[in-house]
Amino acid sequence: MSAREPDPELLAAARAIQLQAYCPYSHYRVGAAIRTASGVIASGCNVENAAYPLGSCAEAGAIAAMVALGERAISEIVVVTDGDQPGTPCGGCRQRIREFAGPEVAVHSLADDGATWSTTVGKQLPHSFGPESLATE
Ligand code: THU
Repeated sequence: MSAREPDPELLAAARAIQLQAYCPYSHYRVGAAIRTASGVIASGCNVENAAYPLGSCAEAGAIAAMVALGERAISEIVVVTDGDQPGTPCGGCRQRIREFAGPEVAVHSLADDGATWSTTVGKQLPHSFGPESLATE
């Protein structure tokens, strides 16, 4: 799938999980869906907390689901948000994604009206620190 066009199945998964968002404080629903290198889809939504800093992002949930499935490599990610501007992964989530994705991996962000911004991990987090930075073997 090109960096310009989200995989329709992945987009459907992101839209489905967005409906499960628990966001009583921000009222900003986010759904994230990952296609792994082996073709599996893992998804997550944001989960807020009355103790605000404990809330978690949709991307973090999707990554946790991916790892729980035994998957370790992201080949594409789709993030859907409320509002008329595509909501891109926050800085922390860019680093979370980077842990399991190379710079060429496509990241698609879609607003609720379908407005789309497609880019790559490397463009969102240039000159990044990643697992290979710590490789010792
Ligand atoms: N949020 C995400 O789920 N992903 C992001 O990359 C940015 C922000 C969530 C966290 C919080 O529940 C809500 O959006 C408002 O910040």
